[in-house]
Amino acid sequence: MDASIAGRQQREIYAQGMSGITPLIPTDFYQLESKAKKVLSKKAYAYIAGGAGLQNTIQNNLSAFSKVKIRPKMLKDSSQCDMSIELLGKKRTSPVLLCPIGVLELAHPGADIAVGKAAASLGVPFIFSSQASEPMEKVSQSMASGSRWFQLYWSKSDDLVKSFVERAERCQCEAIVVTLDTTLLGWRPYDLNLGYLPFLEAKGIGQYMPDPVFNKLVDDGSYLPPAGKTKVNLHTLLTLLRMNYRYEGSFFKNLVSGRALRGVRTFTNVYSNPALSWKEIAKLKKMTDLPIFLKGIHHPDDVSIAVSEGVNGIIVSNHGGRQVDGAIGIASTLPEIAEIADQKLTIIADSGVRSGADVFKALALGANAVCIGRPYAYGLAIGGETGVRDVILHILAELELTMRLTGCRNIDEIDNSMISIDH
Ligand code: FNR
Repeated sequence: MDASIAGRQQREIYAQGMSGITPLIPTDFYQLESKAKKVLSKKAYAYIAGGAGLQNTIQNNLSAFSKVKIRPKMLKDSSQCDMSIELLGKKRTSPVLLCPIGVLELAHPGADIAVGKAAASLGVPFIFSSQASEPMEKVSQSMASGSRWFQLYWSKSDDLVKSFVERAERCQCEAIVVTLDTTLLGWRPYDLNLGYLPFLEAKGIGQYMPDPVFNKLVDDGSYLPPAGKTKVNLHTLLTLLRMNYRYEGSFFKNLVSGRALRGVRTFTNVYSNPALSWKEIAKLKKMTDLPIFLKGIHHPDDVSIAVSEGVNGIIVSNHGGRQVDGAIGIASTLPEIAEIADQKLTIIADSGVRSGADVFKALALGANAVCIGRPYAYGLAIGGETGVRDVILHILAELELTMRLTGCRNIDEIDNSMISIDH
């Protein structure tokens, strides 16, 4: 990669501008989101953009970042800038990861494969979702040696959890990220008002369909929920056709045997476990030697327990405001969390990161690395693999410029002396 990502990005964009060509991928989040909205279906946009309830947590994430003010230092010779960090004992070219996002096929047919390739090409780790559209084996293969982690929703079946973890190990995932905040699906009016849940069309269940343990559960019917009441009309038939088409295997066999419907119904009942507790984290430690990250932690009390339980790290996150409405913005929680963690945990910040300046702020607030979410899903919607790559490059370019213009020559120099917080 070029020594200066920012320099190359600016040169390329302004040079194209001389021929009247503007970037396919808008370079700021707001235009990125509005362009993506135009290419996404109404349902896909609702699923990706929507948050819980009155959308207050999404707002809180953004306003928490905007309350953090950067205080640039001058005359520090910023002719060089090193954005690399060490994470899980490996040197990474930047402090950025791609968070797990389910059902990426809603954004683009390239889905997880396109994202994996873009991430690998820039040395950015990609956290595979439990709700991915494509199975981890296929995505890993397309990423060659690119860094990947696996995000786990703890299923009602421990056997299924074990199977997912073993597959992640075989796929050379570097860590298991257990998402704790989605033991139940949040109240999401954008989706509810359209009556739309992609899983019911067999979308976003790419990890499950080829899994031997999941298939056993489908066969034995042990997790088949009671049938709900659905009015049968033309729309129902279309949904069923889509489900049978999308489900693994032959369309006609799925339709005749009823297997797709059985699989989807089993999935809705088994994918997450509301009884999840610290006991399962202890179980996971016995199941695998991979480093364990807990995603969704943002209460200080939970950070203390995570330290005493000896997990490797936490992803400080409110799931992008999709679960609890009115939750605290992540940037507001980071200083206290960093103090409690006291370097005993790796802290990754997630939720509401929209720019390179936000990455800078999260690092200054005490995070060791930062997850990018919706921005890359929008890049995927507009431009597939190239779109994701450009979104990452734009964020890294702005991070680099923010560092150099504030006198930070490496990530360690981004400390809390670089910011002040409005209260
Ligand atoms: C998510 N997120 C998520 N998290 C997770 O652990 N597993 C998952 O399958 C998903 N799926 C998912 C789908 C969509 C459409 C979105 C937008 C988000 C949450 C994700 O990992 C991350 O926490 C948020 O995206 C961060 O918020 P922002 O920065 O994207 O607003």
